[in-house]
Amino acid sequence: MNAKLLYINTIGCQMNVYDSEQIAAHMAHLGYQQTSSLQAADLIIVNTCTIRKKAEQKAYSFVGRLARLKRKKSNLIIGIGGCVAQQEGDKILDRLPFVDIVFGTQAIHRLPQIIRQVQKKRCRIVDVEMAADTQAPESIIGPYRETSVSRFVTIMRGCDNYCSYCVVPFVRGRETSRQPDKIIQEIRTLIDNGVKEVTLLGQNVNSYGKKEGLCTFPDLLARIDEVEGLLRLRFTTSHPKDLKGNLIRSFKVLNKLCHHIHLPVQSGSNKILKQMNRKYTRELYLDKVLKLRDTCCDIAVTSDIIVGFPGETEADFESTLNLIKTVEYDGLFAFQYSDRPNSPSVHLPDKVSDSQKIERLQILLAVQDEITRKKNQALVGSIQQILVEGFSKKEISSKPANGRRPAQWTGRTSTNKIVNFYHDHNAQDSGQAYLGKLIDVRIEKAFSHSLWGKPLAGASTAKRVKGVECYAA
Ligand code: SAH
Ligand code: SF4
Ligand code: F3S
Repeated sequence: MNAKLLYINTIGCQMNVYDSEQIAAHMAHLGYQQTSSLQAADLIIVNTCTIRKKAEQKAYSFVGRLARLKRKKSNLIIGIGGCVAQQEGDKILDRLPFVDIVFGTQAIHRLPQIIRQVQKKRCRIVDVEMAADTQAPESIIGPYRETSVSRFVTIMRGCDNYCSYCVVPFVRGRETSRQPDKIIQEIRTLIDNGVKEVTLLGQNVNSYGKKEGLCTFPDLLARIDEVEGLLRLRFTTSHPKDLKGNLIRSFKVLNKLCHHIHLPVQSGSNKILKQMNRKYTRELYLDKVLKLRDTCCDIAVTSDIIVGFPGETEADFESTLNLIKTVEYDGLFAFQYSDRPNSPSVHLPDKVSDSQKIERLQILLAVQDEITRKKNQALVGSIQQILVEGFSKKEISSKPANGRRPAQWTGRTSTNKIVNFYHDHNAQDSGQAYLGKLIDVRIEKAFSHSLWGKPLAGASTAKRVKGVECYAA
């Protein structure tokens, strides 16, 4: 019998990417194979995000287009999962008559049983049950359809922080941490399947294991750092209020932990930070950035910013701009504030107009662009160690049929900067030999979002020894 085909569309953050892999693993046990063809699919899953209104609209617009497919293929099963599903529940079935399943963020492990029921009874099912306690079901492992160099591993689910603008605590539930042994077992299996780098995921990794009395996050990092075959280790996200000396020290003492931290500040104004319920001040935040840089001199710092939070005045926005110039981030994700269901900031007065939000966003991005360009330019001439992740996306679509043009490969530095390079056809080695390897490249050109380099012959000489390693330009 031919395998049934599953198409997954993943919208949203890395947590959803991981969850979609879990969905695929569960469905594989039911005999479903993944397909990249919507038309061929027997089961379509849309894993949705609702962090901002636009993300929610994106989900509805994609799902809306599936009505036509369902008319053509009556036994097609359509399931909506993720954060919009959790938020809206059965309202989705009322609104979209061609949808069969709505499953919440904590229902993934029940999906096989839901699908079986739908297949048998042709009924419509909503499962958005949320656990009130901290008991989360364990992840399941593989089977791995294809290997990639870098993978996400969720170590915590949910969030207890209740930042006033944020929907995550409502759609992901209470914070729970996975057992260290289970996490390490999953990483070992990934490595056996060719993975070289893992990024640990949690909404606030600093509070890992606290509720459950497990080890601390720095202890978990130290254990994973020892795992044989792993080349690189990353994590996201660290909440500034909980970033302490023991985690900062990890950047100095661990061999595989990459020199990059995503430390979302959200605003540079103390008044706005208070209204956001972020529980740190601008001064405290800047002090932590200083400590990070004191401990690990080449650490890259990136951040998230929300512009146009209710009550944000010109002066507040100026404080944010000033903070960005002070920190000189390596990269920034900036968003226009968006009212979300249940989030307390919905009720705050003095909403900022859309035009003002757009203007502030543009000003901020222009300031950051200049900083990023300057930082990237400073790397020209330096030698960087990169982990090669594959062909650059651009190359896949533009590769000539005769294959004469040299292949364009892509990798990232420890500081998370993208480096593209050509494989030299005259070289003895095949281009494929780069994949999943740490190599040294000399940076030749800098752009606003990437670098261009030339690989140096031989194995990487940039030995990562204990202690801080800085590449001089
Ligand atoms: N747990 C992570 C954030 C996850 S959400 C953390 O605390 O850093 C990713 C980013 O989306 C947030 O950092 C914030 O900048 C942005 N965001 C969240 N809610 C938003 C909203 N209502 N409007 C605009 N941006 C929002
Ligand atoms: Fe949202 Fe704040 Fe939790 Fe991040 S820490 S997910 S911004 S509530
Ligand atoms: Fe992630 Fe979006 Fe949900 S950012 S946690 S998928 S609301």
